[in-house]
Amino acid sequence: MSFTVAIDGPAAAGKGTVSKAVAAHFGFAHLDTGLLYRAVGAKVIAGAAPVAAALALDPVDLENDALRTPEVAQAASEVAVIPEVREALVAFQRSFAARAGGAVLDGRDIGTVICPKADVKLFVTASAACRAERRFQELVAKGLDVRFETVLADVKERDARDSTRAAAPLVPAEDAVMLDTSDLTVAQAIAAAVDVVAAARR
Ligand code: DC
Repeated sequence: MSFTVAIDGPAAAGKGTVSKAVAAHFGFAHLDTGLLYRAVGAKVIAGAAPVAAALALDPVDLENDALRTPEVAQAASEVAVIPEVREALVAFQRSFAARAGGAVLDGRDIGTVICPKADVKLFVTASAACRAERRFQELVAKGLDVRFETVLADVKERDARDSTRAAAPLVPAEDAVMLDTSDLTVAQAIAAAVDVVAAARR
């Protein structure tokens, strides 16, 4: 039986951490849909045309540590504006969502466009300053030479582009449960998300 959990929200709000933990807790499969756009963005940086890159995407393309850089994140946000790129990625996401045994998908438009009938929808958010600080710490821990101001500007730029684009903009679904992680520890955010999913399974 399928059971779909849709987790949306802006960059670095804690979606990934919460999604992985929810998937592990309930034994569901997890798809970070941002990786699809990042993989297309990386191919575009390498010289490919966006729509062709999206149509030719292979699951193997997602297994690449280089997809986590700020440059690839910006390229992902840029290709994500193109409706044909988004359309090319819909079928893969929907079939993942429908797999037996349950699935958690995290992204920007999972509850609104990809899985509007998801069993549970969460919108995970946090203030821009909090999100930039978390992303900054992650990048520093990876040994990247970045400045906080640059990371904050990147976060704001991506928020603006993701929220104002015409195709599948980042907005909470009407029936999404809001989870603001600004003042929560990782453990508290996970516990809150697990409670919401557990309540929907009853
Ligand atoms: O979640 P992320 O930071 O890895 O996402 C990278 C970019 O991909 C993000 O800025 C917008 C785009 N994206 C999207 O448009 N729709 C999704 N479902 C996931 C990501």
